Amino acid sequence: MTSTTPANASPTVELVVDGTARPLSVVEASDGASGFKVNTLLRDTGLVTLDPGFTNTASCESAITYIDGDQGILRYRGYPIDQVAEGATFLEVAALLIDGELPGTEALEALEKRVAEHAPLPGGFEAFLAALPAQAHPMATLAAAVNALAAWYPEVVDPRDPEQVDTATAMLLAKTSTITSALHRRRTGQALVAPDASQGFVADFLRRTFGSEGGEYAAEPAIVDALEKLLILHADHEQNCSTSTVRVVGSSNANLFASVAAGVNALSGPAHGGANEAVLVMLEKIRSGGETVETFMNKVKNKEDGVRLMGFGHRVYKAYDPRAAIVKKSADEVLEKLGAKDELLEIAQGLEQIALSDEYFVSRNLYPNVDFYTGLIYKAMGFEPAMFTPLFALGRMPGWIAQWREMVNDPSTKIGRPRQVYTGATERRFVPITQR
Ligand code: CMC
Repeated sequence: MTSTTPANASPTVELVVDGTARPLSVVEASDGASGFKVNTLLRDTGLVTLDPGFTNTASCESAITYIDGDQGILRYRGYPIDQVAEGATFLEVAALLIDGELPGTEALEALEKRVAEHAPLPGGFEAFLAALPAQAHPMATLAAAVNALAAWYPEVVDPRDPEQVDTATAMLLAKTSTITSALHRRRTGQALVAPDASQGFVADFLRRTFGSEGGEYAAEPAIVDALEKLLILHADHEQNCSTSTVRVVGSSNANLFASVAAGVNALSGPAHGGANEAVLVMLEKIRSGGETVETFMNKVKNKEDGVRLMGFGHRVYKAYDPRAAIVKKSADEVLEKLGAKDELLEIAQGLEQIALSDEYFVSRNLYPNVDFYTGLIYKAMGFEPAMFTPLFALGRMPGWIAQWREMVNDPSTKIGRPRQVYTGATERRFVPITQR
């Protein structure tokens, strides 16, 4: 494959197949890797591209989030993640991701009002949640609940109607917070607390999760800030597993609720969003097993029983995950503030210290990812480990919605339908069961 771009011509690369050069047009990136188009390759050459895990395949053009994995850079709509996390609220970031620009005061207030209006659950929804086992994993309930929104609101499921999509967007942002607080309440045997439109999105989420109906509850500003920051850090991450899932499901013209529910399911896996829960389980296991961080790390390096250092490694980041750096700082501050500095933080810090200088991790570019320290903060706030991944989902909601909307509005969108390289039996004659 060679690059052949004469001056002033659109860039192409050439693929030589059986001695014949085929020009493939290049889509130029504004930042990062450009891509060459292979969509006519099968027609022109009889060949498909094969890329398990899509490690080198761009599935779309996107203007939402930029990651440079080698430099540890993450930007939302061009804004560096540290500046966004420091200066914005979660709903401000939602507006930025979904609309493309930072909202002005009026636009933000309108969004806050709209989201607050949609926070209550519709009649019968609480009974629907109650029909599922209270101790079910909250990700199973969350996926079912997001999916069920389409059953309650069939009037807003047309992907081609911008007004319906706008309403479904506000509903998803609002109702996911209500459902997530309900998941915690049900697991802890408490009645749900009604939303209060006069409170901020995050403050009211914390009040509905940890307060009592009619009782006074004011979340510590430092805790509101910390959760706001965590939700922002999770808000989008370009074409990851759950976001790609949302796009593929949506590419069939499935509605926004159905597409996002699929994303929630993709997120639940421990290689993806489920890692934040898995990290805490791992730390607890090291503590209760009386194991030293050194012996645990030896198991990881020897790949004993497939043990991995959860919260480490990333498909794209080959340097320190910029989100993890912010979370680590926040973990220190929040745990100090809550007087919750615990043994698990020390175990996590010990694991990180070894990993950052150990040949196994260094040679594979394995650094802490966003999930390594988040669980410790969530735990200190009062969430049990099973709730960590729903919190990730709550944070990721703006990204899923923004990516789905970008996909729907992209004229080049086609139904997601990969090819395969078939390696099974060639044609053979069917044998009736009596002759087998
Ligand atoms: N602990 C130990 N070894 C690891 C780890 C880890 N956490 N991650 C990767 N490796 C090794 C892996 O065994 C392989 O070694 P070798 O070359 O000897 O076969 C090498 O590093 C490359 O790994 P890979 O699985 O091919 O890399 P990937 O890009 O396909 O996987 C990953 C990325 C995130 C799934 C993986 O690093 C992992 O399983 N990490 C632990 C789970 C985790 O923390 N996930 C959260 C990701 S960030 C938040 C999110 O996106 O949800």
